Amino acid sequence: MKMILVRELKKETNKYIDKKVKIAGWVRNNRAQKEFGFLSINDGTTLSTIQVVYDQELTNFKEIGKINVGASVLIEGVVIATPTRKQAFEIKASKVTLFADVDEDYPIQPKRHSREFLRENAHLRMRTNLFNAVFRVRSVAAHAIHKFFQDQGFVYVHTPLITASDGEGAGEMFTVTTLPLEKVPIENGKVNYKEDFFARQTHLTVTGQLQAEAYAQAFRDVYTFGPTFRAEKSQTQRHASEFWMIEPEMAFCDLKGMMKVAEEMVKYIIKDVLDNCPEEMELFNSFVEKGLKDRLTKVLESKFKMITHEEAISNLLNSGVKFETKPQYNGDLAREHEKYLTDKYGPVFVINWPKEIKAFYMRLNDDNKTVAAVDLLVPGSGELIGGSQREERLPYLLKRMEEMKVPKEDLWWYLDLRRFGGSTSSGFGLGFERMIMYLTGVENIRDVIPFPRTPRNAEF
Ligand code: 4AD
Ligand code: MG
Repeated sequence: MKMILVRELKKETNKYIDKKVKIAGWVRNNRAQKEFGFLSINDGTTLSTIQVVYDQELTNFKEIGKINVGASVLIEGVVIATPTRKQAFEIKASKVTLFADVDEDYPIQPKRHSREFLRENAHLRMRTNLFNAVFRVRSVAAHAIHKFFQDQGFVYVHTPLITASDGEGAGEMFTVTTLPLEKVPIENGKVNYKEDFFARQTHLTVTGQLQAEAYAQAFRDVYTFGPTFRAEKSQTQRHASEFWMIEPEMAFCDLKGMMKVAEEMVKYIIKDVLDNCPEEMELFNSFVEKGLKDRLTKVLESKFKMITHEEAISNLLNSGVKFETKPQYNGDLAREHEKYLTDKYGPVFVINWPKEIKAFYMRLNDDNKTVAAVDLLVPGSGELIGGSQREERLPYLLKRMEEMKVPKEDLWWYLDLRRFGGSTSSGFGLGFERMIMYLTGVENIRDVIPFPRTPRNAEF
């Protein structure tokens, strides 16, 4: 008899009613009574479990009753229609084989566990409904992103994870080295990286953008989707030291065109996940954020607002709200500011930021004060997307690099792009975990990435 997946059983139930099937899975619950018992089995292919009834006719009835939650089992039995019950069918077991039992200290029991507790058991937490749902949605969303770009002819570029350049010029990088830390070679009071593996100082990348820009000047529309590393010491619910970023880059495209793609992409992902993960989204809607599905559906139907950074600050100053951090025309938006704006507008693009607080590669606006940058703020996740139109004018770019003390020598190849048939180019970065938080209502980034890396934490 061929093994069958519970997903298939649920999809094609009629085909299997009164037929004998074989499934393999893990016990989520075992309720043994005197003459019969119920096993809830999850085989990993759907969120929900399937009920297996076993009775005294089975020679190992007593042993089955003792199988612990978490054990892996093989079940053979007949599919029985149970139209009057919550589940449309169940399996009446003719054979239950214990594949592997679990030790008594198995942490995942059929009861409510705190997210903190489950974080400490990150190697097991995806066996709970909540995390199972989160990580299936994560997978579906990743696929949706590839579909979105591939269907429009974007070329997927694998940008390097080890790099010699600080793509954001923010200095928040992890150094990659094979130098002996107990005895680093010193020359003139400085570490001599010439003796290091790459004969220069290298880092884990903070962005694939600069390399993506190079590819955009050959393919027009490209995107990256890969791990990104930031050595920010801040412990917040929205920052991870290792996260995944999607970075489309489009030649012959300005800021406006870029925002259009960003909005379409966010909506595409939402729709795809609502369509393909109904069970999971229902779970979040009931147990994580009441009204989540409504909120997302409304986003699909509405157009994202757009305001300038200046308008955003005026808005905040005139709001009558006492913020802990005073909003400033030449300053960044604090978390509480973002929250105020998204409460008011829903998803909102904030454009034209003061040049001082943004990266060196962003195009200077005619006012000489702001750059063609955009952040997309959304309720809950805050900054979901950061992007810009790139400075294509070499003299301007060089001036910005000087002002911001970005080493020109390391980025000679990036500067070449402005000399060799460059074009207008725009792109953005979507923080993948923030998107998953937005889709699921889960508030902590540590709960939407399989094995989170944050300051002072790299367990697993
Ligand atoms: O705004 P950021 O720093 O922009 C860039 O890196 C550009 N190079 C993107 C581009 O134009 N190609 O980062 C982009 C997004 C943020 O909006 C946020 O969603 C996410 O990446 N992000 C983080 N997510 C989790 N943890 C962190 N520490 C993050 N830092 C940024
Ligand atoms: Mg940003």
